[in-house]
Amino acid sequence: MRVLVAYATAEGSTAGVAERIGAVLRNAGHQVAVRPVEGIDAIRDYDAVVLGSAVHDQQWLPAATAFLARERLALAGRPLWAFSVGMPDAFRGRPRQWVLTEADDLLDDLLLHVEPKDHRLFSGVTRPAQFAWWRRPVFRLAGGRYGDFRDWAAIDGWARSIVHALAGTPAEG
Ligand SMILES: Cc1cc2nc3c(=O)[nH]c(=O)nc-3n(C[C@H](O)[C@H](O)[C@H](O)COP(=O)(O)O)c2cc1C
Repeated sequence: MRVLVAYATAEGSTAGVAERIGAVLRNAGHQVAVRPVEGIDAIRDYDAVVLGSAVHDQQWLPAATAFLARERLALAGRPLWAFSVGMPDAFRGRPRQWVLTEADDLLDDLLLHVEPKDHRLFSGVTRPAQFAWWRRPVFRLAGGRYGDFRDWAAIDGWARSIVHALAGTPAEG
């Protein structure tokens, strides 16, 4: 199948997640294009779409939301999977649990436009330079840590669940 993996990123970590998902799909024999949403003008050439965005302030980036609105009809006609890249694993304990709850709100926002077969919230990368000066103390006071929190095994597992779904077989595990 021809699969589009489209993503919106501010700092690049979501692009890395998209490339990784694309590699798993490619290894399974699919024809895969991994592209930033800004460069996509039509999705009619694809049989299935995986769409992801970095999360800022509990929402997808404007470029991803604009893409959703623009391509809503075309997306409705294709199997669609969605992923968000935020920072739950930059925290521990209750703050982490609190950040994880944003997954439900992100899915609610998505459902305004499309009906993805699945939505997953992954952790990305946190660096001091990406936060405005006034956000850094708030982040640290909440127990936030800087680093690369991308869980490649979890990302690979989710991508494999898409491979299984595209093949019409139940996912393992
Ligand atoms: C201004 C700003 C706001 C953010 N807000 C959230 C948020 O509300 N929830 C969350 O889980 N992560 C949040 N993050 C963390 C980013 O989603 C995370 O760093 C992600 O890896 C960024 O992806 P990117 O490198 O593709 O831009 C925020 C990051 C920045 C810089």
